[in-house]
Amino acid sequence: MTDETLSNLLHEERRFPPDAAFAEAALAQPGLYEQATADRLAFWEEQARALTWASPWTQTLDWSDAPFAKWFVGGTLNVAYNCVDRHVEAGNGERVAIHFEGEPGDTRSITYAQLQREVSKAANALTQLGVEAGDRVAIYLPMIPEAVISMLACARIGAAHSVVFGGFSAEALRSRIDDADAKVVITSDGGYRRGNPSALKPAVDAAVVQTPSVKKVLVVQRTKQDVEWDDERDVWWHDVVDSAPDVHEPQAFDAENPLFILYTSGTTGKPKGILHTSGGYLTQTAYTHRNVFDLRPEKDVYWCTADIGWVTGHSYIVYGPLANGATQVIYEGTPDTPHKGRFWEIIQKYRVTQLYTAPTAIRTFMKWGDEIPAEYDLSSLRVLGSVGEPINPEAWVWYRKHIGGDRTPIVDTWWQTETGAIMISPLPGVTTAKPGSAQVPLPGIAVDVVNDSAEPVPNGSGGYLVLTEPWPSMLRGIWGDPERFKETYWSRFEGLYFAGDGAKKDDDGDIWLLGRVDDVMNVSGHRLSTTEIESALVSHPKVAEAAVVGASDETTGQAVCAFVILRGDAGYDESQAESVVTELRNHVAREIGPIAKPRQIMVVAELPKTRSGKIMRRLLQDVAENRTVGDVTTLADSTVMDLIKKGLGAPS
Ligand code: WTA
Repeated sequence: MTDETLSNLLHEERRFPPDAAFAEAALAQPGLYEQATADRLAFWEEQARALTWASPWTQTLDWSDAPFAKWFVGGTLNVAYNCVDRHVEAGNGERVAIHFEGEPGDTRSITYAQLQREVSKAANALTQLGVEAGDRVAIYLPMIPEAVISMLACARIGAAHSVVFGGFSAEALRSRIDDADAKVVITSDGGYRRGNPSALKPAVDAAVVQTPSVKKVLVVQRTKQDVEWDDERDVWWHDVVDSAPDVHEPQAFDAENPLFILYTSGTTGKPKGILHTSGGYLTQTAYTHRNVFDLRPEKDVYWCTADIGWVTGHSYIVYGPLANGATQVIYEGTPDTPHKGRFWEIIQKYRVTQLYTAPTAIRTFMKWGDEIPAEYDLSSLRVLGSVGEPINPEAWVWYRKHIGGDRTPIVDTWWQTETGAIMISPLPGVTTAKPGSAQVPLPGIAVDVVNDSAEPVPNGSGGYLVLTEPWPSMLRGIWGDPERFKETYWSRFEGLYFAGDGAKKDDDGDIWLLGRVDDVMNVSGHRLSTTEIESALVSHPKVAEAAVVGASDETTGQAVCAFVILRGDAGYDESQAESVVTELRNHVAREIGPIAKPRQIMVVAELPKTRSGKIMRRLLQDVAENRTVGDVTTLADSTVMDLIKKGLGAPS
């Protein structure tokens, strides 16, 4: 983010106090902060008591082996029982858990009682396929109810799931299956996207050829498109799950039993498998979902538009909402299929009360025009949420005015795959909102903004966002790599969790997030690593060297811009520029997934490097964002930038 945007942000003076009636009736009252400050651990114990435990914990937090935390030590519970069965036992079996809306318009409403039977069948089927507690199961599915059912079935039998976003390539899937040693992959023939069936199974077929750990592939039939079939390995969901017994006795597991691994991009080429466990994770996702969204399970209809393949889908479609007994909408497709009012039509149809979506979507809706949402009745909405990247004040104000009827509170929620649950956010009936700022840590959470020497910065200054106390849903490590866990998050500042985000405290001490300070880009709210895309580019035979930067983009927040040096023997001349660029963009899509496709690839003769050989991405970012190039004095060859600009036809 440039200094200019930063100072514009901090001159944002609009304020939105909570509506008096909302504030009075809100679940979260100001006293929650005082309660948490008075005794943080006792506060978390109280939140944990909202779950149903099979046996109680003996210690709230064991931090003796920091940074490896244990929460609710000795306690046991079954996560799926907490998300499903207990609501049925409490007499809410007939409440709808999921209103599923398929992209082609097919719908299915699943009650908690039905969900209990479906999850039980899937748990029995997975057990028959050889999955045991402690195993890993990879899930590569579109946004269909079976994705939720599969995750809960794994949780029910104590196996960890590793959901891989359906937009990732066969190669990305392969490396994730391999890293986690998954025994079973759950996938489907395909899913619907932009009006067409889009295949998923071919990627699994390609991936599992090289992953000996996989014994079985369980396939949901969604689109009925043709699939290749391996009789030894592949089984249809409708054969093995539908016929399995619909009763399954959930066993209690340790609070620290692994619940899932979710891969996310870091500063090196290899994605990290973020590990989350059971008791603390479920405690914090349920607590935050209830208080941040003011959730009333008996009457609300909540909708989070994230994909199940990202952490937002894990924590705020599956675990938080279901632990709270919420009724929610799950939508399979894109917001413009078959028309640009699809989201608003869904809200009107189900009388959605809470909408949780991403700034990139909001900016797209702004671009499509105010008249589209204006055609629908959105009066059921009570709370609007934003997640994934900083929301610019204009998008915030538009969201509130055109979607929230100038009435609803907006919660700008900051968190990460690693934090597992929301950490910084306004509380809807308490906080006077400032557009563009996530503002305050939630009760129970401790954050600060520090300078290079780990000293808290005064109000009005910026620095690095850190978390100063352990929290229940914190990652328990990086799968198979404890050293990398310590190195990535805990080595920058002694005893503090380094989030990788820049932040500023305003004069009131409220926090404004400023984007990543490391080599991670945020494109449409998706985390991508510059190094990962660079390795993908370099794996193409024509590429000698590559440097990738995130350049600001009006709609997607950041966009991937790549600079490549081609090999001398690539036989390249200017006339082929276009075809080489297309070839390389497609290559990245094949290696990682379409979301990683560079917006721009620039063929250059040199890259700017320091004397120690480190690429100076900051300078390339200046080029990609059409700015005057910054300080070049640390370059090994200070003329390189002129060469690059000349080559690109930019004014020097
Ligand atoms: C960014 C998504 C500003 C941030 C839940 C973080 C945000 C990264 C916000 C994590 C927000 C997420 N304001 N920035 N409200 N929410 N981010 O792991 O840079 O996909 O580090 O988790 O997204 O992305 P992840």
